[in-house]
Amino acid sequence: MANGSHDDNQHDNQPDNRNEGPDDERQTGLNQGLVNYGDAGFSLFLRKAFIKGAGYSDDALNRTIVGIVNTGSGYNPCHGNAPQLIEAVKRGVMLEGGLPIEFPTISIAESFSTPTSMYLRNLMSMDTEEMIRAQPMDSVVLIGGCDKTVPAQLMGAASANLPMLELVTGAMLTSGHRGVRVGACTDCRRYWGMYRGQEIDDQEIEEVNAKLVGSVGTCSVMGTASTMACISEALGIALPGSASPPAVTADRMRVAEATGRQAVINARAGVTPDKILTEKAFENALRVLLAIGGSTNGIIHLTAIAGRMGIDIDLAAFDRMSRETPVLVDLKPSGQHYMEDLHRAGGLPTVLRELKPLLHLDAMTVTGRTLGEEIDAVPAFEQQVVHRFDSPLYHAGGIAFVRGNLAPDGAIIKQSAADARLMEHEGRAVVFEDAEDMAARIDDPELDVTGEDVLVLKRIGPVGAPGMPEAGYLPIPRKLARQGVRDMLRISDGRMSGTAAGSIVLHVTPEAALGGPLALVENGDRIRLSVSERRLELLVDDEELARRREGWRPVALTAERGYRKLFLEQITQADQGCDFTFLRPPNIQRRVPK
Ligand code: FES
Repeated sequence: MANGSHDDNQHDNQPDNRNEGPDDERQTGLNQGLVNYGDAGFSLFLRKAFIKGAGYSDDALNRTIVGIVNTGSGYNPCHGNAPQLIEAVKRGVMLEGGLPIEFPTISIAESFSTPTSMYLRNLMSMDTEEMIRAQPMDSVVLIGGCDKTVPAQLMGAASANLPMLELVTGAMLTSGHRGVRVGACTDCRRYWGMYRGQEIDDQEIEEVNAKLVGSVGTCSVMGTASTMACISEALGIALPGSASPPAVTADRMRVAEATGRQAVINARAGVTPDKILTEKAFENALRVLLAIGGSTNGIIHLTAIAGRMGIDIDLAAFDRMSRETPVLVDLKPSGQHYMEDLHRAGGLPTVLRELKPLLHLDAMTVTGRTLGEEIDAVPAFEQQVVHRFDSPLYHAGGIAFVRGNLAPDGAIIKQSAADARLMEHEGRAVVFEDAEDMAARIDDPELDVTGEDVLVLKRIGPVGAPGMPEAGYLPIPRKLARQGVRDMLRISDGRMSGTAAGSIVLHVTPEAALGGPLALVENGDRIRLSVSERRLELLVDDEELARRREGWRPVALTAERGYRKLFLEQITQADQGCDFTFLRPPNIQRRVPK
């Protein structure tokens, strides 16, 4: 077993504790975090008067209070079951003798957030952290699901350091189109690619549009939402077995009820996130990210969450971990199944059982039991979705970390969802200066491009776009798509959806907008990728690159006011999780994986 010998609770970067202040020391329930009127007795008197106006009794108000973060929104179908989940959590809280109080925060849905949901993730983390701090509660249940919501909640709640449990909304159901099983969003991209390639017509693309999303809930494949659900469970901050139940099932509601119960127990026991989100927990989560063929976004989010706990993710060490961690889960986009199939196969505990030799089994979870104890408590059975450790789907981990003169601080590629032929490739660069340039020219019949070329897209990084949109999944130029080209090597400083597949190098750091070498690439340059050597090279000599750098002029990246100004001034690069500088602890001294 890969257990370290350090004491995870001894470190210099403990997050702030909301109960540290002299005024509310050892206070619980409604008595904590009083409004500052200069008279604590009056503050409590006034607070109780108002909440009694909502019909609460003194008996109710003297209970352990569990806050429930309601991220239900008409703009967020991925959270469409939030009302039912809240009812179930409340039931659990009351069964355990506590008082549930729900409250709203920002809700972010992928397809309803311009310019990109990533632009809003840190804002949601600030909202989550500050509303947990500001309102009286003894623990909190965070209901999240759609891609950026779970990372935002874990970042914010980790910083607030109040006892917490993550509760994901769960995956949507799959549906069917003309006899073929379909689910968002890998199949959305597949059908759109077929439409661009003229394999299906206007009528069929309209028809399948109504079939791809079978119910409320998060995307039905191993996209970012499913990845973050599995990571939450692997971190031990969500209940065992809670990642996989689909959104509209009885199992999902029972998980919600159990989460409410556990939130009361953990409030009384003082199980704060710093006791769970340890170095061992993050190493376990990184293993799981690799073994599930998880989203490339998972590495950015884990880096941001770990950063809040004073822990850096060492991407070179993560790559070494990747070489010895096989992909076990046969889900789209790396494989063939859907999240509901993983649930029927036993969910994440089935994966964890196979990974046991590589995990820190003594890592503590929110149940008060260790990860190893939780794995052993679940019976094993024959199933077809999770491969055995000795006969994996892929022998190496799903994500590879590459470096070279084109990406001095690194880039990543999801090799498990790529064309193996292109993992060792040299080709001619076809360059797009930004997303608008790409949109204007990618389908131009006159575009000088072949299937062996390398598509390069600049200025979609954290600052450049801004917000690092999921535009790294460059479409295959239409004229090539019509010739049957289905994959090409593509490189950018942006991200791609976890539901997407292809030979796509992402997160090139430093980004082009800040003058990273990506900014210097010109049409016709040769680019070489070797995943086996973990190299990404621009085959242009140093003298020529120096000449180009002299002529490079940055585009002014400013905003006069508001969140955009804050974002542009504070956003960090991908290797620091794209968190805001001022939200990370000042001294980050620990690194994982070891
Ligand atoms: Fe919300 Fe995929 S769009 S989880």
